[in-house]
Amino acid sequence: MTDFKNSVFQGRSVLAEKDFTAAELEYLIDFGLHLKALKKAGIPHHYLEGKNVALLFEKSSTRTRSAFTTAAIDLGAHPEFLGAGDIQLGKKESVEDTAKVLGSMFDGIEFRGFKQSSVEQLAEFSGVPVWNGLTDEWHPTQMLADFMTVKENFGHLKGLTLTFMGDGRNNVANSLLVTGAILGVNVHIVAPKELFPSQDIQDIANKFAKDSGADLVITDDLDKGMKGSNVVYTDVWVSMGESNWEERVNLLKPYQVNMAALKKTGTPDDQLIFMHCLPAFHDTTTEYGKEIEEKYGITEMEVTDEVFRSKYARQFEEAENRMHSIKAMMAATLGNLFIPRV
Ligand code: CP
Ligand code: NVA
Repeated sequence: MTDFKNSVFQGRSVLAEKDFTAAELEYLIDFGLHLKALKKAGIPHHYLEGKNVALLFEKSSTRTRSAFTTAAIDLGAHPEFLGAGDIQLGKKESVEDTAKVLGSMFDGIEFRGFKQSSVEQLAEFSGVPVWNGLTDEWHPTQMLADFMTVKENFGHLKGLTLTFMGDGRNNVANSLLVTGAILGVNVHIVAPKELFPSQDIQDIANKFAKDSGADLVITDDLDKGMKGSNVVYTDVWVSMGESNWEERVNLLKPYQVNMAALKKTGTPDDQLIFMHCLPAFHDTTTEYGKEIEEKYGITEMEVTDEVFRSKYARQFEEAENRMHSIKAMMAATLGNLFIPRV
């Protein structure tokens, strides 16, 4: 009889990229590309027929929630959204007790929230695969979509250079630095010194880079950081759970992704793309955007509207890929697929 546990991914949680090898991440990226092709061709792929998955959200979400929901439905599973205001978690019930209850009813659990320790405890006590939909520290499902998008555009990953400019110590920057290091993609972090990645994160990334040959550069010098980039990536200056707008605007104004910054790459047009995990502040059509304009006199933050709407922009393909890659991750960890090795 087939022992499903012999599959590389079956039953595994996805809590942080550092727990996966380059081959495993590449498999999930390629599987995402395959599932995208199946979806476009209208070919069903019900690997999770009859499964129930819980979607826990302590923080807001458009893409991650939509991606998990549609991916689960396409896979034949039933997704159940459990928002912060809807369940007892945190207020009347511990993560451990919640995990035990949810694990007895659901086959898999997505968690988006503040503490990495919460998603780790869910995995420890639920007995089912737990998928990290973003914590203060990491955003691993974003990475699957991001490197899938890079591969779609360039046909390969190793040897490319991805430059993240902005808040260099947020979850997305952490994840890009470590995932790039695992995959052999050179990662540049361009940020003011105050927002450099923590030493812990740098140590993790450096360890992987030794094996993969990725070149990691952390600098506050735009000329040095931008040079040779194939992917220029940015994220909001103030992440969910933070509120220090004035400090961030002052620190990060010189680190906006605009056309002048893209020019500094020196990269030919057909070898350069712009990415953003979204949501983005590229104009004043949002409440926060308007407030920032009134208070600090700027109409664009981490990226200009010109770059956001330019021929380099891939952020909406990247957003769509959240769905295909999350589907790959859920199917691989819960779908009893034959993946004896990668
Ligand atoms: N990129 C991303 O995680 O988007 P949401 O916050 O909308 O889920
Ligand atoms: N760094 C951002 C990412 C949002 C997808 C945040 O945590 O708010």
